[in-house]
Amino acid sequence: MPGYELLGKEEFAEIKHLFDESRILFRHSFDHLRNNIYKVKEFEEAFAKRMNIPHALGVTSGTSALRVALAALDIEDDDEVITQSFTFVATVEAIIESRAIPIITEIDKTLNMDPEDLEKKITKKTKAIIVVHMLGVPARLKEIKEIADNHGIPLIEDTAWGCGGYYDDIPLGTYGDIGTYSFDFAKTMTTGEGGMVIFKDENLYEKAAAWHDHGHENNPNLPRWEDSRSSSGFNYRMNEMQGAVGLAQLKKLDYVVAEQRRNAHLIQETISDLPIKMRTIPENSFETADALVFLVDNNQTARRCRDALLEAGLGTKILPEAITWHFAGTWDHMPELVQRNGGDLNKAFPKSLDLLNRSVSLPIAINMVNDFQTKIRHALTPVLR
Ligand SMILES: Cc1ncc(COP(=O)(O)O)c(C=O)c1O
Repeated sequence: MPGYELLGKEEFAEIKHLFDESRILFRHSFDHLRNNIYKVKEFEEAFAKRMNIPHALGVTSGTSALRVALAALDIEDDDEVITQSFTFVATVEAIIESRAIPIITEIDKTLNMDPEDLEKKITKKTKAIIVVHMLGVPARLKEIKEIADNHGIPLIEDTAWGCGGYYDDIPLGTYGDIGTYSFDFAKTMTTGEGGMVIFKDENLYEKAAAWHDHGHENNPNLPRWEDSRSSSGFNYRMNEMQGAVGLAQLKKLDYVVAEQRRNAHLIQETISDLPIKMRTIPENSFETADALVFLVDNNQTARRCRDALLEAGLGTKILPEAITWHFAGTWDHMPELVQRNGGDLNKAFPKSLDLLNRSVSLPIAINMVNDFQTKIRHALTPVLR
């Protein structure tokens, strides 16, 4: 969560540099006016280096990052794309915008994609899988990747919440074929709005780069207005101000994640003897600790935990109550989902519903209130004992 907490003189210095030395806010062209300053390109290169992957493409949001990823995979009408029930609505919107059919899996105790249900939902029409590392906890990537590989289906990691996390020492977003990130204002690193798509495969990267820019191939032998093209596309280009802020934020990423993990750990230690179960973190994984989630016996207790926290001036995040934007079982406004899942979404994902109803999520920031861990414990103890 706390990218915005650290917005300060480093981001301002990058913006000042852009305005003092260039004042070109478009990522392309104007070469004779820009003093060789290309902030988006520099940000993409720095991000790719940090994630240890060859190609990164800056885009306007985490939602457009997903849409661009699906475009690169040539998803066509009526192809099926599988994702998980607990995610932000944007993951499914990107599938619908690609004219594909969203197929939703249950979650497991990691609160991410259940590999067993994934296996059951694969059909001949499945063209991509989008796994999500919700609230910064890695999904069971090893099993999910194995299933995807066995069926020859590309794996996209929606890393909106997982930026800076790892699985088997591999940066989240780089375990599968394509990784997408969000830099909206609530994310671990922020550019106000913005996103990134990263690729191992050069061909996929080039397709995505052209598609996100009306099909422009940026042919070095042609001026932009005469540029070559081989497909249509759209406009999801990042601008130079976002690139500038992103450069400064990226340098803070590891600090943000370390601080979040420290704060989450302090809370976990302080409440560990209460009758709760912590969300399962897969072995060999390194979470970003955007939130700390624990499970109680039933929804009533979860709601009482929330009320007690609120009364003490503390909050929860998304769970147990504010799941409406984050749980497919509530998205009655999406006819594509309702038809496909028997007409009643409330009954469509019973395992996910049970887990989410019993989960309480504590938001983690860098600047928490004084002695937050003790305050959280005091608020929860009368409810749980
Ligand atoms: C899992 C997930 N995917 C995608 C997005 C979309 O990102 P953005 O807000 O940058 O469009 C979000 C935003 O919260 C998200 O939580």
